[in-house]
Amino acid sequence: MKSLAVLAAAAAPLASALSLSVASTGGNATITTNQYGLLFEEIYNSGDGGLYGELIRNRAFQGGNINGVATLDRTTDYWTAVNGVTLAIDTSTPAVSTSLPYQMRMDVPTDTTDAVGFYNEGFWGFNIDSTKRYITSFYLRGTYHGVVNCYFQDALTGDQLSTVSLEVSQTAGQGWVQHMSATFMPTTTLAYPNVTFYFMFEDGASLAGESLYFNMLSVFKQTYDNRNNGLREDMATALAELGAKWIRLPGGSNMEGPYPPYYWKWNATIGSLLNRPGRPGVWGDINTDGFGILEQLQMTIDLGLEVVLAVWDGLYINDSIISEADIDPYVDQALNLLEFLLGDTSTTYGALRKSLGYSNPFTISYVEIGNEDNISNGESSYKAYRYMAFYTAIRALYPDLPLVSTINPAPSGLTGIDGTIDLHIYENEATFVNLFNTFDQASRKYPVFVGEYAAIRTGSHTSGQVGVQTFGMACAEAIFLLGCERNADVIIGTAYGALFKEYNEEPGTVAVMKHTANEILYSMSYYVQQLFGANVGTQTLPVTATGAGFGPVYWSAVLNADGQTVLKMVNYAGTTNPVTVTIEGSTATSATLYVMSAPSSASVNNLSGLGGTTSNITTSTLTGTAGTFSVPFTSGYQIVVLVV
Ligand SMILES: *[C@@H]1O[C@H](CO)[C@@H](O)[C@H](O)[C@H]1NC(C)=O
Ligand SMILES: *[C@@H]1O[C@H](CO)[C@@H](O)[C@H](O)[C@H]1NC(C)=O
Ligand SMILES: *[C@@H]1O[C@H](CO)[C@@H](O)[C@H](O)[C@H]1NC(C)=O
Ligand SMILES: *[C@@H]1O[C@H](CO)[C@@H](O)[C@H](O)[C@H]1NC(C)=O
Ligand SMILES: *[C@@H]1O[C@H](CO)[C@@H](O)[C@H](O)[C@H]1NC(C)=O
Ligand SMILES: *[C@@H]1O[C@H](CO)[C@@H](O)[C@H](O)[C@H]1NC(C)=O
Ligand SMILES: *[C@@H]1O[C@H](CO)[C@@H](O)[C@H](O)[C@H]1NC(C)=O
Repeated sequence: MKSLAVLAAAAAPLASALSLSVASTGGNATITTNQYGLLFEEIYNSGDGGLYGELIRNRAFQGGNINGVATLDRTTDYWTAVNGVTLAIDTSTPAVSTSLPYQMRMDVPTDTTDAVGFYNEGFWGFNIDSTKRYITSFYLRGTYHGVVNCYFQDALTGDQLSTVSLEVSQTAGQGWVQHMSATFMPTTTLAYPNVTFYFMFEDGASLAGESLYFNMLSVFKQTYDNRNNGLREDMATALAELGAKWIRLPGGSNMEGPYPPYYWKWNATIGSLLNRPGRPGVWGDINTDGFGILEQLQMTIDLGLEVVLAVWDGLYINDSIISEADIDPYVDQALNLLEFLLGDTSTTYGALRKSLGYSNPFTISYVEIGNEDNISNGESSYKAYRYMAFYTAIRALYPDLPLVSTINPAPSGLTGIDGTIDLHIYENEATFVNLFNTFDQASRKYPVFVGEYAAIRTGSHTSGQVGVQTFGMACAEAIFLLGCERNADVIIGTAYGALFKEYNEEPGTVAVMKHTANEILYSMSYYVQQLFGANVGTQTLPVTATGAGFGPVYWSAVLNADGQTVLKMVNYAGTTNPVTVTIEGSTATSATLYVMSAPSSASVNNLSGLGGTTSNITTSTLTGTAGTFSVPFTSGYQIVVLVV
């Protein structure tokens, strides 16, 4: 009995052992370079308070957030008075600009003798790094002749962390004057963000009984590539290291706008910051639009990303829809935007672009008409007139520019490149595993961007927690991505929704990365996209399996640009049996093996103080015999990339 049992136990893995034989030719799809992409929109301080380098919160009194809803009610939120002054929203004239009609007024008590001023809290604090340059500036109206000291202060110890002074000499009659500091470096580096930024008027006595007016108060830390009005360096670096190839911008639901008339208007996001009124976003925050269309496109240049440009098409999130009779001016706005980005400098908007420092036209790879038009009650109008109004007008002027429908199938019987669609898939983990073969059956008439996807719940849960991003969920997403790769003849590319969220504001929903003032949390999904993005192919390769079919191990093979064979495998709730891989026609005896693992399927990555990064990607050399390799799986959940 005993020896029989041993025999049976030894035989079982053999019987079910998986062998994969990867052909060197004969795949059915050429893979676009665009398999891995990004979605950028303003969501939970992804831009303001995130990628956009401005560190002052509520810098121009454009509105705020009440109970999670963006509001145009102006407040002095995030500002605190120092030494007895009072701060108030003020609308006296002149305003600093017609776009920014609200300013902050500081009233100084008549008995003042000390320095007076105020401080800002930043976006959940400030990052203090003694190796980086910072700069501050503000617009002032009123009479003051003296020094303004601007500095960071540790909110926990009260220590002053930097010093810079501005000499101000102006009278009320001069109206608004901008003051800009020299660059300065903090005296220390802080490991925590609990810091405020002070604007202190040294000669408080001279201001006794007077008022001063402020707008566009700003602090930037040195930005990615040292761009003016540029990107937060660590976040842009994280994006660069993700290695994606394209980005859809400026949204996303946020482009649609919460209700009339607050859709995303390109021409309100360009030029002087004083000419950008901002607007209520759909995700609860006011958008300053400091991270405007040109700043976003500069980012795509700096990061080498192709652009999928979304244009507003008459649908608001609150179901308001522009009627057919009224749609033309909105079509014109989309055409104006395209002329602004693509037009010769002899055109009206091409000349405007040039005047803003961009002589050369940008490159736009796709234009997507709207966002999620099959919800917000948009489906019937999209099919009846909205899609074709934009499609026809853009096609007439840009015959080669591919257009993307947000509804599946594309309206009006369009197919081929003209029938390109954007699908958004938010499902639970179990569904993502099952989506592995969903595109095997997809119509080949409609090329697909999976413009947003994310596993948002563990297991097969259909309600409850949507924020946890476990390793099991990341494995499920990886399986889905293998299905996309196998069907690269119809799947142009994929992007996870959302890209960034501020951790303090939105700890509980998914993002590729979450940031605080000081730190970036790289989700498990970030590492999956990075690993797969670094191992894209140029064409698919057929794989013949023996011993088992798909599940618990899933796979996909491609040929890469260097002529190497790349086999991606995901073990999902499997065993630790090795998989025998044969690369047909190869005599290689060594291969590179990348393995992403985590302690368990329930593991998550978190901020450093909350458990930190638990996922791990190792790179090693695997030895084989004449093109055959035994690929080990050391745990039931693992993502493996073999490059031969
Ligand atoms: C420090 O700042 C963080 C982020 O705003 C906050 O969560 C935390 O409570 C602060 N710590 C202290 C001791 O105030
Ligand atoms: C959307 O909001 C606008 C402005 O508040 C309102 O007039 C309109 O009725 C709303 N639309 C719908 C369909 O609720
Ligand atoms: C943007 O363009 C629209 C339509 O041409 C116009 O109504 C609006 O005033 C412009 N907005 C700004 C801020 O220039
Ligand atoms: C919108 O399209 C998506 C993707 O095809 C689909 O899952 C969803 O059910 C559709 N929603 C509506 C309201 O039609
Ligand atoms: C290409 O192969 C994949 C994987 O076997 C399959 O799902 C897909 O349908 C094939 N595409 C075509 C156009 O035959
Ligand atoms: C990070 O840790 C906090 C505190 O333990 C927890 O509430 C949160 O859910 C964790 N984040 C993730 C993504 O699990
Ligand atoms: C990743 O795993 C390797 C091998 O087990 C180990 O040596 C390394 O320290 C791990 N790295 C991290 C960041 O956990």
